[in-house]
Amino acid sequence: MATRANAPRRRWAVRATAALAAVALAELATCAQATYNVLFILVDDLKPTLGAFGDEEAKTPYMDDLLSRGTVFQSMSCSMAICGPSRASLISGRHADATQTWAFQPTFRKVSPELMTLPGHLRQETNHRAVGVGKILDNRNFNTDGELAPDLCGQDTWENADNVHCSWDEYITPKQMRQEPLCNGKTALRWAADDYEDWDQYDQFEAIILEIDNVTRHEDYCIGLIGREKLVELAANATEQPFFLAVGFVKPHLPWTGPRADFESFRTDPDSTILPPPEIQMDLDDNIFWTEQSSSWTKPSSNAELEKYEGWDTYDASDLVRAYYASTAFVDRQIGALISTLDNEIDETVRNNTMIILWGDNGYHLGDFGLWGKKTNLENSARVPCGIVAPPAWTAISGNEVQVGAHSDSPTDSVDLYPTVLDILGVDPPSDQTFSGTSLVPIMKNSSAQVRAAALSEYVSYENSNFMGYSIRTQSYRLIVYMKLSNKGVFDYSTAKKMELYHYGEPGAFETINRIDDDNYADVKAEMLALIGDPSDPDWTHLLGVAPFDA
Ligand SMILES: *[C@@H]1O[C@H](CO)[C@@H](O)[C@H](O)[C@H]1NC(C)=O
Ligand SMILES: *[C@@H]1O[C@H](CO)[C@@H](O)[C@H](O)[C@H]1NC(C)=O
Ligand SMILES: *[C@@H]1O[C@H](CO)[C@@H](O)[C@H](O)[C@H]1NC(C)=O
Ligand SMILES: *[C@@H]1O[C@H](CO)[C@@H](O)[C@H](O)[C@H]1NC(C)=O
Repeated sequence: MATRANAPRRRWAVRATAALAAVALAELATCAQATYNVLFILVDDLKPTLGAFGDEEAKTPYMDDLLSRGTVFQSMSCSMAICGPSRASLISGRHADATQTWAFQPTFRKVSPELMTLPGHLRQETNHRAVGVGKILDNRNFNTDGELAPDLCGQDTWENADNVHCSWDEYITPKQMRQEPLCNGKTALRWAADDYEDWDQYDQFEAIILEIDNVTRHEDYCIGLIGREKLVELAANATEQPFFLAVGFVKPHLPWTGPRADFESFRTDPDSTILPPPEIQMDLDDNIFWTEQSSSWTKPSSNAELEKYEGWDTYDASDLVRAYYASTAFVDRQIGALISTLDNEIDETVRNNTMIILWGDNGYHLGDFGLWGKKTNLENSARVPCGIVAPPAWTAISGNEVQVGAHSDSPTDSVDLYPTVLDILGVDPPSDQTFSGTSLVPIMKNSSAQVRAAALSEYVSYENSNFMGYSIRTQSYRLIVYMKLSNKGVFDYSTAKKMELYHYGEPGAFETINRIDDDNYADVKAEMLALIGDPSDPDWTHLLGVAPFDA
């Protein structure tokens, strides 16, 4: 085989015993590929409102089926509950403090010109062909002019002037789909209303809910279609060149658009309000809650996300929640079609050599605590859905048996996905690059296993944007600490201010009782503070109870 794929099974392979290595070699001889392919499915603003996560109102049979083939990570955090920074962390395996991508500026490559992202590293090490379709990275973190594909190799910009420190061989952005007839010979329509042929003429904030009859030019339909075409194309050459295909869907991000029938199906049962539990149904103006009990340092203006849309306040809360679920049901079918292509339209050997990851970039408040949207340090914003299906050919190797269909409650971080992929593919991490994450393979093999003491999410304070809130999640608790942001992006622990401590094990309490000053929780508080550690330590952002990935 002419690829470089035979060479790089260095460190991970060395870790295996000689006996396992012999089995692995025999296995590789029968499978035509020396390494594995990756199908990475991203969903914008998808919280764990899936049947596989125990949500009985959800209509997500295809994602549920996919997740039943692998491991469901029930307690995964995003690095920041906002798309750009969360995705930058995912792709680089580093927390937001390490990427310094806390918003859209400075751009990712300005801070980290030589950082190897996961697809970039696989391109270099194992000759994977890296292709992105739809929303993978946020364009605003990579290009100031908004026209170019994020981190595409060979693109003539200062941000990636070489073909080494870049991520993708090919990247088809949603914008490109709207400008070129790539979707069954048609262009995609951004807001996808049946009667708006030209998306440019439609104001994005004209409606928060758009029910449409013909979705064949809906962005997510087109992203799914082009994703399927790319999958077939890449699979045809996979024995020559393995692939890393990322397909990023844009719903259920606002506005909530999709087939009328999906919205109807959530309306047929008028008693089904799909609202949060009563104890967290409150108004954003509940000052006692926001200033004394919980806070996340005073009430956020998170609802601004909804308020941009004309007529948003003409809907009942339950209409809005149903619309989120309907939009999710639509995306679910696009994911089902993609998996069906993988199951039925490509060579079985290639399929057996392909791993699948499903991931949402941040959580979402659907009226709980009076909040709508993301951008908080609370559970419903920080927690993301994730599942991993290992390549069947990999799991067939002795020692790689995974607990298929298992659910893990262990705290995990989105930054763990980069090392997990390398672990399964048997690829060394890039040298001289630090990681904030660790491989999740031990959890795939034993769902009771823990790979980290706590997961970390962060978000800036609403009251004072000079303060960053660090949100540490263990299996039962969350501690949020706000610390002052210095101009170097280093946080001064001596300025720690306004802490919150929640105990999820307390029935009904969720995040309504702040235990930070409760003497009964003094030990927990001390343990959680110890987990956060000392931010004056230069390696602080890589700690958090996790040994450095390549130690
Ligand atoms: C939906 O739109 C596509 C593309 O514009 C068109 O080819 C198709 O006939 C439409 N289907 C229906 C049922 O109107
Ligand atoms: C197939 O893979 C080989 C080996 O990497 C590569 O040279 C060739 O361009 C690929 N063909 C296609 C159609 O992508
Ligand atoms: C693919 O994997 C399945 C299940 O592990 C196995 O039964 C089948 O023989 C494999 N097919 C090929 C072509 O390797
Ligand atoms: C799974 O992990 C748990 C927790 O670490 C451990 O107690 C148990 O023995 C492990 N099970 C197996 C089969 O290794």
